[in-house]
Amino acid sequence: MCGIVGYIGKNQAAPILLEGLSKLEYRGYDSAGIAVYNNNELEVAKSKGKLAVLSEKIDGGKKLGGNMGIGHTRWATHGEPSDVNAHPHLSQSGRFAVVHNGIIENYISLKKKLESKGFEFISETDTEVIAHLFEYYYKGDIMDTMIKVINRVEGSYALGVLCVDYPDQFIAVRKASPMIVGLGDEENFIASDVTAILKHTRDIYYLEDNEIVVLKKDSVKVYNTDKEEVKKEKFTVDWDVSAAEKGGYEHFMMKEIEEQPKAIRDTISPRIKDGKIVLDDISLTEEDIKNINKIYIVACGSAYHVGVVGKYVIEKMCRIPVEVQVASEFRYCDPIVGKDDLVIVISQSGETADTKAALEEAKARGARVLSIVNVVGSAIAKASDDVIYTWAGPEIAVATTKAYSTQLTVIYLIAAYMADKLGKISKEEYADFIKEIESLPDKVAEILKSKEDVQYLASKFYNCHSIFFIGRNLDYAVSLEGSLKLKEISYIHSEAYAAGELKHGTISLIEDGTLVVALATGKNLFDKTVSNVKEVKARGAVVMGVTTEEHEHMDDVADYTVKIPATHEMLLPSLTVIPLQLFGYYVASLKGCDIDKPRNLAKSVTVE
Ligand code: AGP
Repeated sequence: MCGIVGYIGKNQAAPILLEGLSKLEYRGYDSAGIAVYNNNELEVAKSKGKLAVLSEKIDGGKKLGGNMGIGHTRWATHGEPSDVNAHPHLSQSGRFAVVHNGIIENYISLKKKLESKGFEFISETDTEVIAHLFEYYYKGDIMDTMIKVINRVEGSYALGVLCVDYPDQFIAVRKASPMIVGLGDEENFIASDVTAILKHTRDIYYLEDNEIVVLKKDSVKVYNTDKEEVKKEKFTVDWDVSAAEKGGYEHFMMKEIEEQPKAIRDTISPRIKDGKIVLDDISLTEEDIKNINKIYIVACGSAYHVGVVGKYVIEKMCRIPVEVQVASEFRYCDPIVGKDDLVIVISQSGETADTKAALEEAKARGARVLSIVNVVGSAIAKASDDVIYTWAGPEIAVATTKAYSTQLTVIYLIAAYMADKLGKISKEEYADFIKEIESLPDKVAEILKSKEDVQYLASKFYNCHSIFFIGRNLDYAVSLEGSLKLKEISYIHSEAYAAGELKHGTISLIEDGTLVVALATGKNLFDKTVSNVKEVKARGAVVMGVTTEEHEHMDDVADYTVKIPATHEMLLPSLTVIPLQLFGYYVASLKGCDIDKPRNLAKSVTVE
């Protein structure tokens, strides 16, 4: 997720672009850049680091004169944060400057084709392909060129494009990435969202997919890809900047919960081609996979909980032993790990001190390290032999949701990829798995549609002093995450327990009115967990069951039931966790807690 802005009008562009980008830094902040049209040239300034670095470099914009320009604040997906990877990207001759928010899924094949035509690339980004494509197709008409370019690229994009031959206008388009058009007085704008332009105008157009907009100082025209003008409805925005930064949500956490369908889709779709899982990101060969003696999964907090899911899924599908450990234990337990072992390290921030130290420990003992990270170019990513990035975009809320969910999907992809290489999965099972993993975004969206049902349950239980989460197998793994989500933002004590283990002591804590959230989504263990539900109910517990639509019987035993859609057994955690995220959120909201910044917590724990 990146932030883009564009401006044309009566004022100097650069200061306006910088100011707009400052309102978009929550969308990405590892590097930034602007391009301004000035005296038949496109002048570009860009730098790694926060926007302030760029602003200082160009003296707040004073060093780039001109009334038309585009700007970008980056959240790296392809190519680590650096000056050269920062946007805008210029075409070979400098005729075009491009800013892009999204992922070009076929950039590798397009890059090869352009290189074969003599184009030279200087960055590692997918976006640079677009800049050279404009050059490749340009015959003098920018609109025709835009249409040819968007017909060739696959994936998601919001594009702003300057062309040196068009000093009085610039062009933009979107597909699957957001873009609005700001309508001012002798000035017009594009932006990833309204926060960037609220200071100048509240009158906007919302662009739809494949709508191309041509902006001049005193006119804005929108076209479809048949070059027919599209009549747009003007909206007047009544949000303040703070609400706009959260997309109208009260908290970043809810915004990020709602972003999960897109984050999951962005993470999996570039890695599934023609019904096969394609992990271009890693150098692990089939031979390497066949020689793996043991897999360790090492992480902290919610990332560790992903590892617990990973243990069940990888062992079930690949029949390779998996040991999952919290990083702070792994690093000090003199781990028995060596060159034939694969260590999977999971981290949203890529900067967690315990996880980084555990990674070093594993490498020092000769193990191969594959990391699953959300921040491109982070310390853990750089220290790993292989990295598979989650493309969740920046996660601002301390309590992780979309990063957790996208980490799960990468685990599923790795498990199925290895199972296929090991011959542990039939063609039919593989095809079914792929079909189901591709259905996850829609199924998550379906659960989110009835989030008010969970809000109602939260209203009944937000005064509890202690809440138990129980489950078996994958449901136990998810109960760990449900319990942590509740604890860390509502400050209510909670325990996650393997349902079959309760009777070995902890059940003594169950008394009249104790809330037990029972996860029972898997087919084989459903009846066993129902027995545990009956055990706790017999001791006075109130039970909220979370199960799939197929398990009608849960309604007979639980006091309340939350239903999720059915899916492949191994993928159920991605759906089970959603009501638990919502439950934690609504309980904390009803308790008036600081949801995005809970007490005592940091988004990235870079100390021991
Ligand atoms: C999760 O909601 C917490 N914020 C915390 O447990 C987090 O998952 C943990 O600190 C690991 O962070 P990382 O993924 O950035 O390494």
